[in-house]
Amino acid sequence: MSLRQLNVTVRAPAKINLHLGVGAPREDGYHPLVTVYQAVGLCDDVHVERSPGWTLGVTLPDWIDPEALPVTGDNIVDRAARLLAAHHGVEPRAAVSVTKSIPVAGGMAGGSADAAAALVALDRLWDVRTSDDDLLEIAAELGSDVPFALLGGTALGTGRGELVEPVADPSTWWWVVVPSREGLSTPAVYRRFDELNPGTPEEPESANALLLALASGEPGVLAGALHNDLEEAAVDLRPDLAELLALGERSGALRGLVSGSGPTCVFLTSGPDDARGVAGELAGAGQDVVLVANGPVAGAHVVTYA
Ligand code: C5P
Repeated sequence: MSLRQLNVTVRAPAKINLHLGVGAPREDGYHPLVTVYQAVGLCDDVHVERSPGWTLGVTLPDWIDPEALPVTGDNIVDRAARLLAAHHGVEPRAAVSVTKSIPVAGGMAGGSADAAAALVALDRLWDVRTSDDDLLEIAAELGSDVPFALLGGTALGTGRGELVEPVADPSTWWWVVVPSREGLSTPAVYRRFDELNPGTPEEPESANALLLALASGEPGVLAGALHNDLEEAAVDLRPDLAELLALGERSGALRGLVSGSGPTCVFLTSGPDDARGVAGELAGAGQDVVLVANGPVAGAHVVTYA
């Protein structure tokens, strides 16, 4: 029986790094990481349809600047399609539309989510039935965060972030997410990290304290264990983030944290009511885009097909 479909929509989530330990750069230029990813309910949808050629369209919410997106041909979705097609020896044919809600260049792996969603959607559309192992390998080739976007939930990431392993996280955590109109370049943040930390050991800081905090189920305990080695570098490049983090904490958040390489800031709260309260305070203080999201949520998954 053929599973080849006419169209498929796949949803993939943004991530927050609850712990991001960064070691000294490797010979290939990447930094060894020990990170704990959590997928949160801020998602992009990738819709694919049968087509004689290849087209890619992107729909953005009004708060994302279209200039921030890479030009067609260089988009990570184009690359995902080419890699998957080459793996199976098929032509990359599809009409693809990406509906974004995840900040662009924001430190929440929005591009990685799109790549993961495209892999799952095109696998269905082309009926090529890629094994999970192969899909994870192709994902790792596309970017360090792409395997996690396939997996979702909460996971320990090692290597350059591409080796992922699920970890227990039975609670639901409530976040306020404040994107920035202007993105930050991930390589630039890593470069500044190297400049600010010339003596960094090769071995990144362990995530054990964070994993214990997750198991406690207590937001106050998790707040005390959140850790991001890239935060200092991101704040150095964007000093306004320090004010935003302080403002969120004054507004009732348990803890503010730069997400990954930033500049999106995330604020842990003790539940949905508090999250809405903090979001209201931040909006009232002039932040024009303030979102509420909970986690963990599922990785890339099919939402509609025909
Ligand atoms: O893997 P990805 O394409 O997402 O990485 C983007 C850039 O971020 C890399 O080119 C590198 O400059 C930096 N990076 C790093 N160490 C990592 C992950 C990313 O230095 N573990």
